[in-house]
Amino acid sequence: MDSISIEGGKPLHGRVKVAGAKNACLALMPAALLSEQPLTLTNAPRLSDIGTMTRLLRSLGAEVSAIQGGKVLAISAFQIANNRADYDIVRRMRASILVLGPLLARTGMAMVSLPGGCAIGARPVDLHLSALKALGAELDLAEGYVTARANGRLSGARIEFPFPSVGATESAIMAASLARGSSVIRNAAREPEIVDLARCLKGMGAKISGEGSDAIEIEGVDSLGGATHQVIADRIELGTYMIAAAITGGEIEIVGGGIELVGAFLEKLREAGVVVSETPGGLLVSRNSRIRAVNVATAPYPGFPTDLQAQMMSLLTTANGKSVMEEKIFENRFMHVPELARLGASIELSGGTATVRGVEKLRGAPLMATDLRASASLILAALAAEGTSVIRRVYHLDRGYEQLVEKLSACGASIERFSE
Ligand code: EPZ
Repeated sequence: MDSISIEGGKPLHGRVKVAGAKNACLALMPAALLSEQPLTLTNAPRLSDIGTMTRLLRSLGAEVSAIQGGKVLAISAFQIANNRADYDIVRRMRASILVLGPLLARTGMAMVSLPGGCAIGARPVDLHLSALKALGAELDLAEGYVTARANGRLSGARIEFPFPSVGATESAIMAASLARGSSVIRNAAREPEIVDLARCLKGMGAKISGEGSDAIEIEGVDSLGGATHQVIADRIELGTYMIAAAITGGEIEIVGGGIELVGAFLEKLREAGVVVSETPGGLLVSRNSRIRAVNVATAPYPGFPTDLQAQMMSLLTTANGKSVMEEKIFENRFMHVPELARLGASIELSGGTATVRGVEKLRGAPLMATDLRASASLILAALAAEGTSVIRRVYHLDRGYEQLVEKLSACGASIERFSE
């Protein structure tokens, strides 16, 4: 099991290129199941979650070739030899549920292990299942698996979500693309990753409109073709490096992603005194005064992203004043708080609200990573803390951050990864 050691307190200066979006790629890959023709994804991120999805698609009989070191994924689901997604793979990654909709729509039957919860919450899949049911699927839950049958072909329907679930919206769009007739998804998620999935599906011949709004219309087609699609930049990786510049008091140019990806997050950063300007290739980020306390509440896109809550909290631990942070998407996404407290942060928890009282300085300490974004927040805080921090269980980071140590070292960080 690997750990990362950081000698903090150094302003970072340099240039970082963000990779393709993990959360776009994890929906785009299952989309290949919808067609007999090959789907090629470029700008794919090299992450362990992508490896898990690759294993899952291969277990279903798809061919997945990682080209150019994994930056290009050539996927061919000409043959679907197996309609069952095994627990052993699904348990590693919740996004595995995203094969259910396409598998069902393409073959008429799919059996997927229920993903179970994870460190940040129960994370049920009831909204995925209700969307497929609305499209005519018959569902059976037994022994930890959901079996879905289309009895011929799915039928277009009106789907209304009580909550704009990202994954459930993706399941609904993919399944409806091959249904007979038209579908409307109301209270749909509006994330850029949804727009990217729709763009890819339209490249395959799907008829979709309204993506990016809360009402998406799909006209089902009999079959889909192949496509080559470039994965959008990862806005969460982008935001993480923006905070790396701000928290260390340095200046980093982050290329590969534009300002349009970080709306509400950018507003909060600027309110906190972070200086962000656009460059031809991306964004230049720095600060010229102590960070100001700000209040944050996470919300579905275009609100403040829950995936940047932990990283923002690290920035606010040394702000001038008190910040109130509300986590409104997941029920247990404060696992980073006790670890940040070990660095000297002053954070009080009450239900889904964290009150962060800024301190002058953080001091290095041994730390434990618990989930992907909490791990990123510990790295950021350790980069700012005086002295040495050692973060254990960094395999969490490998799920969502490509070459994190290399990218931070290139900006002057004293950081190294080693095996315990
Ligand atoms: C996606 O998860 C992302 N993952 C998450 O990123 C992200 O935090 C989340 O969207 C919110 O933006 C991927 O795209 C692979 P949701 P997803 O369905 O689809 C509840 C990261 O760090 N819910 O919008 O699972 C759920 O429990 C990861 O990159 C139901 O109750 O998110 C949660 O409380 C973490 N029933 C809330 O909705 C359902 O059927 C948001 O879930 C589905 C979700």
